[in-house]
Amino acid sequence: MEQLDWKKLGFGYRDADYNIRCHYRDGKWGDLEVSTSNTINLHMSATALHYGQEAFEGLKAFRGKDGTIRIFRMEENAKRMQLSCDGILMAKIPVEKFTEAVYKAVKMNERFIPPYESGASLYIRPLLIGTGPEIGVKPANEYLFMVFVMPVGPYFPEGFKPTNLVIMRKYDRAAPQGTGKFKVGGNYAASMGAGKLAKEQGFSAVLYLDSKEKKYLDECGPANFFGIKNNTYITPLSESILPSITNKSLMVLAEELGMKVECRKVPYEELIEFDEVGACGTAAVISPIKGIYDADNDKWFKYGNQSDAGECSVKLYNKLRAIQYGEEPDNFGWMTVVE
Ligand code: PLP
Ligand code: COI
Repeated sequence: MEQLDWKKLGFGYRDADYNIRCHYRDGKWGDLEVSTSNTINLHMSATALHYGQEAFEGLKAFRGKDGTIRIFRMEENAKRMQLSCDGILMAKIPVEKFTEAVYKAVKMNERFIPPYESGASLYIRPLLIGTGPEIGVKPANEYLFMVFVMPVGPYFPEGFKPTNLVIMRKYDRAAPQGTGKFKVGGNYAASMGAGKLAKEQGFSAVLYLDSKEKKYLDECGPANFFGIKNNTYITPLSESILPSITNKSLMVLAEELGMKVECRKVPYEELIEFDEVGACGTAAVISPIKGIYDADNDKWFKYGNQSDAGECSVKLYNKLRAIQYGEEPDNFGWMTVVE
């Protein structure tokens, strides 16, 4: 294997040795298969290609100081993929098949799991696509589930250094009763235009407002949003955001750290009140935010000392990482040790 500079890994695609596959045919899921190919043979009329019948997940495995490998909350990702399957009428991958495939993909690609000191991790991408040919808008009768992995560094190149978000009201990511709460490709396609604009202007991501009224905070392109004020962790409740497993975990940890937790509608006006703001997700971990620019009103909201993450964000980050790398006891049963 080419010698990887683990410390300099960004968030990009890289081949590993193996991926795991499983076909749904004739109304049932087959056995897990191991592949060394990074391509698939797909019917040109597959529903995934025409009508976006596809869902994916993202989770991580970590190598502890003593070399122990742990996967974070994989049952949660399995359950969320089932929600996505229900959302766009795909055959539901059983939780046990999902977790078995994830475990196998991690184990078989062990040499790609970055060393503890690097602070990098193994990103795991489960993917489920409609493979059966259709031309009418209806669900396929055949599906392919795959799990592939790659070593990654931070999603935002700044890592744990604060960056800026932008609000642009003329772009929406998802409709209130649409597919925003499912992890399906269409949501990400819908966010690419605004995301590109944001990056060109030096912002790390778009902060979307609710698309119906533009009154409440929704989420960022690739991560949930949280704000902290008066020792309270506040995160938007919305029908159109992805229920982030990182966010769910941070709510538990915030309580452990003696903070109050509120998951509720967060009006735009509250932006001025936060002491700290952050984006959270598997890829983003906790990405502290130093400023939010409201492009429609040419108005800035600024947070903290502009160069470091705030005190609560640091505590939450340290606590989450300590559990993931096995430095603190796994009191909630979140980690799966890979033997
Ligand atoms: N929101 C969106 C749109 C995402 O793509 C992600 C990434 O998975 C998240 C939030 C964070 O979710 P999680 O913490 O489960 O990775
Ligand atoms: C993740 O955090 O796992 C994501 O899916 C976000 C992004 C890479 C789309």
